Amino acid sequence: MQPIIRLREVSKSFGEGGRILRVLDSITLDIGSEFIAILGPSGCGKSTLLKIIAGIEKPDSGSIEARGNITYGFVFQSPTLLPWLTVLDNAALPLIAKGISKKEARDKARRYLSLVGLQGFEDFYPNELSGGMKQRVNIARALAVEPSILLMDEPFSQLDPLTAEALRAEVVDLWLSGVTTVEGVIMVTHNVEEAVYMADRIVILTPRPAKVAKVVEVGLPRPRDRRSKEFQDIVDAVYEYVS
Ligand SMILES: Nc1ncnc2c1ncn2[C@@H]1O[C@H](COP(=O)(O)OP(=O)(O)O)[C@@H](O)[C@H]1O
Ligand SMILES: [Mg+2]
Repeated sequence: MQPIIRLREVSKSFGEGGRILRVLDSITLDIGSEFIAILGPSGCGKSTLLKIIAGIEKPDSGSIEARGNITYGFVFQSPTLLPWLTVLDNAALPLIAKGISKKEARDKARRYLSLVGLQGFEDFYPNELSGGMKQRVNIARALAVEPSILLMDEPFSQLDPLTAEALRAEVVDLWLSGVTTVEGVIMVTHNVEEAVYMADRIVILTPRPAKVAKVVEVGLPRPRDRRSKEFQDIVDAVYEYVS
């Protein structure tokens, strides 16, 4: 596997003086054209790691090298749609911010909204949508910038279990289908089964300060059957390393 992103001994603390919180402790990781899940307990530093990969936060030490031309799409953990904009204009917003014409931005947004099943909802406002549909808009908006890497921070954690399960399968299918520009996906989660269902590799982090406890290759064919013995064996193996 040819790495697209290389992290070397990335460390990060917050605060100063006597109130320093060490969050990441020497994280080394190569990321290629694959679906990676970053799995760890709440508060261990997963979101911080994802923000460092995206360049939103800077590490205190260590290095991140990324292939020259890579771009990121980000699906944030908390709801981030602007209530006064339609679904279409929410999805087009990052493109308009990049200086693309309104027409072109809307055309692209329309295409990605339809890929996530929101054709016909372009003129709706966020408060008219269910939680699952809002998250579809967030995903379409991240895809519309046509990124090489899709970063997702606990994208299904706020959804009811049935909606979350449908969306997980759709996101994996969309990625595998090759109709988007996404080469690699990095998804933060605290859900072991979700990681085993979706990812090629699972990077298990320790409690804060987060270190890499173990990297597990899932290696099961897709679509994955949660009830199969092979699936449960990997879930059990992952739980061994989750402290
Ligand atoms: N900008 C910040 N300033 C100060 N503390 C922060 C900041 N961002 C995160 N933290 C703290 O760092 C720790 C890890 O946060 P985070 O990366 O969000 O964890 P996770 O996503 O695994 O739940 C938490 O204790 C959080 O309060
Ligand atoms: Mg988080």
